[in-house]
Amino acid sequence: LVPKRLAGHKVLITAGPTFEALDPVRGLTNHSSGKMGFAIAAAARAAGAQVTLVAGPVHLPTPRGVQRINVQSARDMLAAVQSALEDVSIFIAAAAVADWRPADFSAKKIKKDGSGAVPSLAFVENPDILATVANSDRAQQGQLYCVGFAAESDNLLAHASAKRVRKNVPLLVGNIGPATFGQDDNTLLLIDAHGSSALPRASKAQLGHALIAEIARRLP
Ligand code: C5P
Repeated sequence: LVPKRLAGHKVLITAGPTFEALDPVRGLTNHSSGKMGFAIAAAARAAGAQVTLVAGPVHLPTPRGVQRINVQSARDMLAAVQSALEDVSIFIAAAAVADWRPADFSAKKIKKDGSGAVPSLAFVENPDILATVANSDRAQQGQLYCVGFAAESDNLLAHASAKRVRKNVPLLVGNIGPATFGQDDNTLLLIDAHGSSALPRASKAQLGHALIAEIARRLP
């Protein structure tokens, strides 16, 4: 039996990759499976919260009792988050959001013209969903607790600590070790204003519960 630590709370979670379309049949995405974010959503629900999960394109069933909104692009994800933000007291950004999107979308499929010419891609920066929410008035006034994630290839503690400060969030969760994309296990590094601590290797389901407990005891 899971303690109802989040009874009365509304929790909003992003999960999975985004898909940034180039034309009607092509786009850019990444290997995020969404498993960690979905596990957190299930754990928050089990802890008694009302949970909304904004999910990029993933192949996962919706956890029982969780309201799910499916999106494709980072801009869709931001719009869905903003539409679901009312009365939310905890925002957890577990999605692997594309930092950039193609500058142009071609309404028709980009065709080979037979000359051997190759297209070139120009990019524009996507909105930072976590930073946008973390800088909202309710977050700044302590009514909305924001949690970010970091997946780094090197120097996790330094990069993730800097990210916590840059994104202006009280808690930043780092994925420790080699790529965890798609795997069922993970190891997490929790970084807050007081320092860092690890949640040892466990299933993403177990880590979801552990992370919810860590968030619950940090709430103002
Ligand atoms: O800057 P970086 O992508 O490494 O930051 C990762 C954290 O920021 C994650 O919590 C991710 O969900 C969030 N993020 C976001 N919107 C973006 C980029 C990242 O919410 N455009």
